[in-house]
Amino acid sequence: MKVRIAQLSDLHFGRDVRAVAQTLLADLRDVAPTLVAVCGDLTQTAREAEFRAARAFLDELPAPALVVPGNHDLPGWRVWSRFGRPWRQWRRHLGTDPHDVVTHTAGGLVAVGVNTARRWGPHHDWSRGRIDARQVNATAAVFDAAPRDDLRVLIAHHPFLLTPSAQARGLVGRSDLALRHLRRRADLLLGGHIHLAYSGVVDGLVVAQSGTACSNRLKGEPNSYNLIEADGDQLTVSTRRWNGERFATHQRTGYTRAGHEWRTA
Ligand SMILES: [Fe+2]
Ligand SMILES: [Fe+2]
Repeated sequence: MKVRIAQLSDLHFGRDVRAVAQTLLADLRDVAPTLVAVCGDLTQTAREAEFRAARAFLDELPAPALVVPGNHDLPGWRVWSRFGRPWRQWRRHLGTDPHDVVTHTAGGLVAVGVNTARRWGPHHDWSRGRIDARQVNATAAVFDAAPRDDLRVLIAHHPFLLTPSAQARGLVGRSDLALRHLRRRADLLLGGHIHLAYSGVVDGLVVAQSGTACSNRLKGEPNSYNLIEADGDQLTVSTRRWNGERFATHQRTGYTRAGHEWRTA
């Protein structure tokens, strides 16, 4: 069965560009995805008005969405909120518990979302995230219970693959643990955070990263999202980029699966 996922990340409401966000919604209506995967950083500083704008955007999506938080969805340097009630706005506006593993099952697809954003970390850069053993085990259990032919997708904010220029940003913490358990169990890992669009294969899994969908926090390339189409052992990741007027396919990479392992086509 054909599966079509629109992968959005780093919307950063508060730093959003209205024309881009509106055109993105129109483009999503045209491509008619099975699922919209929203890979975190919905807001810029986790303030109420930003969450309200993000909520209004999500309500306009033309398909079910599976949404996970990013580091910007935590109150940045508002220390009292960050440590006392870090997810208050998230709970209020998204209606999900950020500590839960969230799932979505649709025709031919089983998707799991995990929150990799943390209030603090054992390093100087608290924007970095982590996946923990509880989340990995819960994800593996969902995939193990899914129908054999379903495409298995993990949705997170922090990356499982970095480009050479982004090495300093760091992989999601404990990515090695996650990959050890998800190898031969998962098909596709979706992330954001870097604000650059790229994809590749890690340990036989396809990893796709999307750029900032509709914010002006550009890191050297235009706004974009990924359209991922899978049919049996074939999968393509198409990056649809903003060209100043609309979103258009900029790059398309194909992957094929042999046994449990994906490789570049
Ligand atoms: Fe971001
Ligand atoms: Fe981020």
